[in-house]
Amino acid sequence: MADEIITGLDIGTSTIRVAVCKTAPGEDGKPKLHVIGAISSPSAGMHRGAVSSMEDAVSAVSKALEKAERMTGAGLNSAWVSIAGQSILVQESRGAVAVARPESEISEDDVERSMEAARTVAVPSNYEILHVIPKGFAVDGQRGVKDPVGMSGIRLEVDAVIIEALNSHMKNLTKCVYRTGLDIDDLVYAPLATAEAVLTQRQKELGVCLVTVGSATTSLAVFEEGDLLHTAVLPIGGDHVTNDIAIGLRTSIEIAEQVKLAYGHAVPDAVDRKEQFVLRDFGAESDEVIKRRFVSEIIEARTEELFESIDNELRKIDRSGMLPVGAVFTGGAMKMDGAIDVAKRILRLPCALGAPVAVSSVIDEAHDPAFATAIGLAAWGHGIKQMSGGRFNFGKILRLKSVDKVAEQLRKWMKSLIP
Ligand SMILES: Nc1ncnc2c1ncn2[C@@H]1O[C@H](COP(=O)(O)OP(=O)(O)OP(=O)(O)O)[C@@H](O)[C@H]1O
Ligand SMILES: [Mg+2]
Repeated sequence: MADEIITGLDIGTSTIRVAVCKTAPGEDGKPKLHVIGAISSPSAGMHRGAVSSMEDAVSAVSKALEKAERMTGAGLNSAWVSIAGQSILVQESRGAVAVARPESEISEDDVERSMEAARTVAVPSNYEILHVIPKGFAVDGQRGVKDPVGMSGIRLEVDAVIIEALNSHMKNLTKCVYRTGLDIDDLVYAPLATAEAVLTQRQKELGVCLVTVGSATTSLAVFEEGDLLHTAVLPIGGDHVTNDIAIGLRTSIEIAEQVKLAYGHAVPDAVDRKEQFVLRDFGAESDEVIKRRFVSEIIEARTEELFESIDNELRKIDRSGMLPVGAVFTGGAMKMDGAIDVAKRILRLPCALGAPVAVSSVIDEAHDPAFATAIGLAAWGHGIKQMSGGRFNFGKILRLKSVDKVAEQLRKWMKSLIP
């Protein structure tokens, strides 16, 4: 199985990213993920993480996949696909079961049943369960158990986080990928996939917030004691900065985007007061001369607002300014110069750009913060495949279970469309 291909497909609002990976034995003998291709291609037909035009989205994804196959020489049959957007719901749930053989030990089967029990939360009628993630177990009322298998007890409880997605959102995304001829290994909630690539277990233990700032959405996931504590998707991203620049300079979105990429800086004080440029250089009609500092002030205002809304999310869980590891950032919009400085000031936390840690690659793009989700999807898939090879790992096993169910439902549904 050394040459197995694992593919992550991240269909963003502005860009589609494909990470083509292989597993190869690492230094410790354990299979390690190796990125052999990191391909980006313009997106279309997507609005805030959801499909808004099927035809356009299918054709954009097809193009991205063709490019990925051409560039890696690998035939892509299936992929782990990200899902995010505003339609995601997060619920806490508790599942409790009687241990099957109380005189002996708690078995894997008991754990699975407790997870099944946790799944039976009231899901809104137009939503589907995407993931059931165990946070911790309790044996006979004693909380804080991480791994109950092998313990003695008569009652097993699990505290789980249930992640749900809008039915139509899931189906449209699935349909879009299937129509390109690609099979889906699973849909994975984007922040969880990104965390898989970018965060270390130690960071998750100590307390960390992972933030991905894309073009239209910003997603975050907070981990503590190794578990997911909070997650959210906010409807704000790099495109809002571009819009503000377009309004401020009274120019088009296209020109504003180019200005942002060429001269953008989120800290006005870091920009020379005298530095200026001519809009005509970007294809505008006017000869207007623009001060770079003025553009920077526009960017700073919107960037501050973005981090304030992240701080608000942290406040909801009493972690504002209070996470030991601080915040780790990914996503294209965090490539803005000075963005990390603004983040530090607003969040009052250590802040740094994230890069995939558990994978190896000689490809430059693999270290691009915008590729973290695509690589994370492959890392997630790799983790699940590893686990079926033997060692027991709750998180992964139970994820796999919810995965199978979802994939099965989606396949059934897809088949029902074929006349
Ligand atoms: N060097 C850069 N400096 C500033 N902004 C940048 C830079 N490179 C990309 N961006 C911005 O990053 C955003 C795109 O990020 P990304 O590719 O992560 O988004 P996406 O995945 O397509 O969107 P989403 O995740 O919201 O669906 C755009 O707003 C773009 O202007
Ligand atoms: Mg994205």
